[in-house]
Amino acid sequence: MRGQIIKILKKVAPYASLEVNVPEVSEFGHFSTNIAMRLASEKGRKPLEVAGELVSKILKVSPRGFFERIEVAGQGFINFWIEKSVLQKELLAVHEKKGFGKSKAGKGKKVIVEYSSPNIAKPMHVGHLRSTLIGDALANIHEFLGYEVIRWNYLGDWGTQFGKLISAYKLWGKRQEVEKAPIGTLLKLYVKFHEELDKQPELEEMGREEFRKFEEGDHENRRLWLWFRRESLREFNAIYKRLGVKFDVTLGESFYEKGLKPLIERLIRRGIAKESEGALIAQVGELPPALIRKSDGATLYITRDLANIEYRVKKYKPAKILYVVANEQALHFEQLFAIARLIGIRGVEFEHVKFGLVLGEGGEKFSTREGKTIHLEEVIEKIIRLAQGVVSKKNPGLSEREKKQIAEAVGIGALKYNDLREHRHSDLVFDWNRMLDFTGDSAPYIQYTYARMQSIKRKVRAGAKPDASLLELENELSVLRKVLDFPYVVTASAEALTPNTLARYTYELAVLANKFYETTPVMKEEDVKLRAARLVLVDVAAGVLKRALNLLGVSTPSRL
Ligand code: ARG
Repeated sequence: MRGQIIKILKKVAPYASLEVNVPEVSEFGHFSTNIAMRLASEKGRKPLEVAGELVSKILKVSPRGFFERIEVAGQGFINFWIEKSVLQKELLAVHEKKGFGKSKAGKGKKVIVEYSSPNIAKPMHVGHLRSTLIGDALANIHEFLGYEVIRWNYLGDWGTQFGKLISAYKLWGKRQEVEKAPIGTLLKLYVKFHEELDKQPELEEMGREEFRKFEEGDHENRRLWLWFRRESLREFNAIYKRLGVKFDVTLGESFYEKGLKPLIERLIRRGIAKESEGALIAQVGELPPALIRKSDGATLYITRDLANIEYRVKKYKPAKILYVVANEQALHFEQLFAIARLIGIRGVEFEHVKFGLVLGEGGEKFSTREGKTIHLEEVIEKIIRLAQGVVSKKNPGLSEREKKQIAEAVGIGALKYNDLREHRHSDLVFDWNRMLDFTGDSAPYIQYTYARMQSIKRKVRAGAKPDASLLELENELSVLRKVLDFPYVVTASAEALTPNTLARYTYELAVLANKFYETTPVMKEEDVKLRAARLVLVDVAAGVLKRALNLLGVSTPSRL
């Protein structure tokens, strides 16, 4: 629907970035644009005049009977009302179509979406959770739009810290403890190493020596590292399973270690990397210099990321690579992309998909009462426990098994939606009660709306062919208009890389659907053709709501 309006507008005002919005207030139309004001200010003309001219042109090029009316308002807004019959016809078309909202926009194009990317031997924290959820949603959305998506988990599994960890394990580690609680035990060992360092400074040398041996392929050290990696992945995978997240490729920093020497030589030869006080640095434009190799010969995070880009581009020829990583690493990615361009990598878009911090309810850093950082497992356990309480209270008649299943869907959904509803640039607040509030802007509210619609579908028999032209109430038509906006919203969400655009949409659709079925009878409607049409509307709205939530990674139980 919105796409059609944009198409019409492009005919009369060929602007690349033409905005058509849905006004908050219904007096301003179903859709609205400020294009006349923009054109007028460019040409130094009166906005109202320009708007008037545009409207007559629009009327000439638009299909007959498409607009109910068009109005110029305020400083020069153009507001549109769509003809009912257009909406009614679309309803039946959408009902018959499979995959409404899908497009071929991404056909033949590959996108690598890199997300999650935790560091082995360390717990995943809420920052990794954000990356995991935003990345997974973006991957789903791109897939839906026809892109070939490669979901990539870029593990932090290399660096001098592993020399310290290996030393610590050799000094104090116990096999069974690592097996029992891998990451917790390895973290403790690592922390202990740093504590002991104050008392025994010679440990520093030991760490360095173990890393050197490891780098040179020392059998024992390689074996230990592989084991740490495997055990860490086992724990990560348990979390991914709970979150319903999957990857196509799990290749981390270590994978690139071997290719670094030739890469560095190339950087030197091409004059991109230069010696500086024994170290090697690369400076591009105004950016601060990036350290490529330390004076002791150690390579860095960015060195491996450069090898990573080269590998990906060569092997997959992607159209885009999305790096879903926290704001804090902005400089790293600016440097990385700038150097990649210098090396001559072309024909691929890179994007650092940044996101903000996670905060506690009072806006403080998100941590336990003792001030320790909260690990992801604890967050997941807690939200599901809280969800269980809420679900039992809301629906005491459910069996224990059902309660458990639903609590899992509601809890995980709440966690995901709480993140995705926010613009990713904003910091995120963990307000547990709000996340689970069945009456607010939360996943449970939207999931509940979906379940209500499913229950209507279960209870009502159509009994006749639907006559969509009988749908005339504003409550019906506003649901219908929202439903028809879905294709536009998914595309917009992909283009701006903002899952919150889609999340917002699910909420708005749920609010309208609620209003509709609370005020408009479906089962009790006596006109069978109208009843059938309302049932189609419920079915279509439920289908779109389910699709949209699923793209966000939120599951949709049919009973709540
Ligand atoms: N492992 C890193 C961390 O936990 C994130 C990796 C981001 N991706 C990248 N290609 N550098 O901070």
